[in-house]
Amino acid sequence: MKVLVVGSGGREHAIVTSVAKSSHVDKIYCAPGNAGIGQLAECVNIGAMEFDKLVAFAKEKEIDFTIVGMDDPLVGGIVDVFEAEGLKVFGPRKNAAILEGSKAFSKDLMKKYNIPTAGYETFDDPKKALEYLETAKMPIVLKADGLALGKGVLICNTLEEAKAGVKEIMEDKKFGSAGNHMVIEEFMTGREVSVLSFVDGKTIKIMSSAQDHKRAKDGDQGLNTGGMGNFSPSPFYTKEVDDFCKKYIYQATVDAMAAEGRPFVGVIFFGLMLTEDGPKVLEYNARFGDPEAQVVLPRMKNDIIDVMEACVDGKLDTIDLQFEDNAAVCVVLASDGYPVAYEKGFEIKGLENFDGKEGYYCFHAGTKLNEEGKIVTNGGRVLGITAKGATLKEARANAYKATEWVDFDNKYMRHDIGKSIDEA
Ligand code: AMP
Ligand code: GLY
Repeated sequence: MKVLVVGSGGREHAIVTSVAKSSHVDKIYCAPGNAGIGQLAECVNIGAMEFDKLVAFAKEKEIDFTIVGMDDPLVGGIVDVFEAEGLKVFGPRKNAAILEGSKAFSKDLMKKYNIPTAGYETFDDPKKALEYLETAKMPIVLKADGLALGKGVLICNTLEEAKAGVKEIMEDKKFGSAGNHMVIEEFMTGREVSVLSFVDGKTIKIMSSAQDHKRAKDGDQGLNTGGMGNFSPSPFYTKEVDDFCKKYIYQATVDAMAAEGRPFVGVIFFGLMLTEDGPKVLEYNARFGDPEAQVVLPRMKNDIIDVMEACVDGKLDTIDLQFEDNAAVCVVLASDGYPVAYEKGFEIKGLENFDGKEGYYCFHAGTKLNEEGKIVTNGGRVLGITAKGATLKEARANAYKATEWVDFDNKYMRHDIGKSIDEA
């Protein structure tokens, strides 16, 4: 079968790597892809938001199955467009991707169906938001309603900060139209865990847990980023936590979406916080996490196409989803200066060191082939170096060893990815 993957980051490289292992697949295309993906798939120069061009391409090449990795096209309705043309596609329709596309929608859904989450209010008038803040407890969390590249969340310690935050989001439109509406929510404390799941509209199957490191610098210092590395499974995701989430969060979310006439098909990413009062939902995403996919997918035993087709066909109950009984750690190699300002275009050396190394992966995020045919840095996050190990500690040692196999000017990484594991 011929598969098209839509997206261009480390997540899509991890998806393409799993698809390449599938016994059903003869040919993979990726739009637009990147230099690493290009080693497994034919990259096509079509942007993820160019739906008409993607549909025309899928028809011309007689693509059997399309997988959408990124949030923007999903929230924008790419699945509806493909389905309307009779093309088979993995991902939620627009009316279900709103679970990620609107924080106000997801908070209202959780409130209506008693799914544990932080208390909140929604606003579309900055004056009302400012009034509300006067009597609210600090710290407090402000969230722009729509997609804001994972950056539309402000944690404010004082009333002054919070007022300035409302102005930034709703008046200055720092996150664009994502800030036309906003959510103000209670600040929670606890450890964060990411849980990815496959969903077919009614059945949900949970993947192995993961834990992200969002801050740029060691010791969780510095600015928030798209993620500087992560590990799977999380030792804090205990059987007790799993039981609780199965009872109150996972199936409840899938049933709520179905009851609203928005059956969810695809991947739901549950961003959870393990609070003193039990696990609560921080956020939902309508796709694999990045870099979560880079530690979870390499550990999945199933043929990814079997699982994804079962989702689209509404037969996920027939799949026995299985993960290896080991661990994986991913360390992101970034360009120094990320997430603010950084240089790019530097040659990446040593990529061949990963050839034939079982259990080691070099996922490309921001890379490209230059005019001379060399692979060069082309973004803030450049590579995701993943390694497996029998234990998290071993996986961590392996991943850090493998970070030394590649080199480029401006190479930057955190040195404490998964360090909390040692303290667990
Ligand atoms: P979100 O995009 O909603 O996951 O928020 C991004 C990050 O902000 C989360 O990963 C948390 O670290 C933090 N955050 C979001 N909501 C809250 C909350 N209610 N309390 C504390 N931290 C939060
Ligand atoms: N790593 C967090 C995300 O993909 O949203």
